[in-house]
Amino acid sequence: MKAVIPAAGLGSRFLPLTKEQPKEMLPVVDKPAIHWVVEEAIASGATDLLIITGREKRAVEDYFDGSIRWDHYLKANHGNALRQLEELASSADFHFIRQREPRGLGDAILRAEKHVGDEPFLVLLGDTIHVADVPVAKQLWDTFQRLGQPVIAVEHVRPEKISDYGIVQEDGWIDDRTVRVRDLVEKPRPEEAPSDLAISGSYVLTPAIFDAIRRTPEGKKGEVQLTDALRILLHDEPIYGYRFVGRRFDIGTKLDWFRAHVELTLMRGEFREPARDFLRELLREG
Ligand code: UTP
Repeated sequence: MKAVIPAAGLGSRFLPLTKEQPKEMLPVVDKPAIHWVVEEAIASGATDLLIITGREKRAVEDYFDGSIRWDHYLKANHGNALRQLEELASSADFHFIRQREPRGLGDAILRAEKHVGDEPFLVLLGDTIHVADVPVAKQLWDTFQRLGQPVIAVEHVRPEKISDYGIVQEDGWIDDRTVRVRDLVEKPRPEEAPSDLAISGSYVLTPAIFDAIRRTPEGKKGEVQLTDALRILLHDEPIYGYRFVGRRFDIGTKLDWFRAHVELTLMRGEFREPARDFLRELLREG
């Protein structure tokens, strides 16, 4: 299974932090965001990863490389965390390709065309973490195997969050988790939204998406959006939404990142109690 991980965005909402380093390398608990994403892809069965990078993203490539600098440390048997990273990095083939300019998620995915060939593929965003017993990407892949058509991960969102997302117009549920997509509306006002089902940033796509992306006009900011390309694809073939089981943590804004970091820290066994005690104390004082 091939997975494409777009990580070439500017991360402008994280400035100044992202001036010289990638948003995807932001620490979440004790590892970079993209490490979580790669873990999910591999746990879902991906053996071939294509990470879309760009200017100032060298750290992403270096992170998954071996490092002579740390070899002695590993040999001295200190490097448990490092060993786990090495195991992860050697359990799939890593490929990198650059998006010359950050011209939108659709344009980023078009860079994967040659690499993907004529197979279906997973898309996982480099800044979105999922936590689930069965990896969310695996849930999507299984749904694709069942239906043979593109599948996008969706989740219900609160009314005040609707205008942050692409929202699905439903065309009937085929079971309690799988919905046929009639249309997609980018960031609607809550009162105009066709549902509260938001596109949550993981997909199984087929190569048909590439032609749809090429047919997609640029948006206002000169970006080619994947949601617009999916709308074009909908004219030709059905697309399904899958209401996944699990939690999603988007680290797109500083506050989102902060929430993800705190909540995922509280979920980690070794940190749970001390982190809870610390937060309780802090709130009592505050
Ligand atoms: P976002 O739109 O959330 O992030 O992209 P951004 O563009 O990096 O951030 P802002 O809006 O400037 O703050 C979601 C994912 O898609 C990738 C990003 O790297 C991120 O992982 N992306 C986005 C690309 O690979 N290329 C693009 O042109 C845009």
